[in-house]
Amino acid sequence: MSAADDAYEISADHARLDLDVIHGFLVEAYWSKGISRETVAQAIRHSLCFGVYLGKQQVGYARVVTDHATMAHLCDVFVLPEHRGKGLARRLVEYLLADKRLTNIRRWQLSTADMHKFYSSFGFGPPPDPNALMVRRRS
Ligand SMILES: CC(C)(COP(=O)(O)OP(=O)(O)OC[C@H]1O[C@@H](n2cnc3c(N)ncnc32)[C@H](O)[C@@H]1OP(=O)(O)O)[C@@H](O)C(=O)NCCC(=O)NCCS
Repeated sequence: MSAADDAYEISADHARLDLDVIHGFLVEAYWSKGISRETVAQAIRHSLCFGVYLGKQQVGYARVVTDHATMAHLCDVFVLPEHRGKGLARRLVEYLLADKRLTNIRRWQLSTADMHKFYSSFGFGPPPDPNALMVRRRS
């Protein structure tokens, strides 16, 4: 990590989250295209959210849906394009996995189109019971 990369800060403080930045990214993301601002705000209110900041500017984000005990679902992970390739996503995931509210989680889950190698370095892998996993989507 260079000294310039060290200027980035990660925080779990919801008061610092920038809804314009988060919604601005998620409304175009492949997994949430067209999502409304109110849906993003509602999801933030009921999740543990983590931001990456350069000064006051939010440049990255991750959200964890959890009961704080048995399960956690990691989602909405992004780093804005001009800040990628500096190890920020790695720092962000390391940070949230070490959060004291989440250290005893029994089962973490996530979905990804192309970041399997990255997440496998944190211990994520294919579900041991793929036939048991079911998904219900609103049509
Ligand atoms: C994916 C994303 C969060 C990575 O952010 P980043 O800060 O550039 O990532 P890092 O610099 O910490 O790199 C982490 C690792 O992921 C790899 N990686 C980065 N982008 C990747 C991609 N699109 N596909 C596969 N691997 C990728 C890097 O090579 C790096 O590997 P290494 O640690 O073995 O060297 C960022 O590119 C992004 O926001 N993409 C669009 C949203 C997205 O796809 N989010 C992930 C949803 S699961």
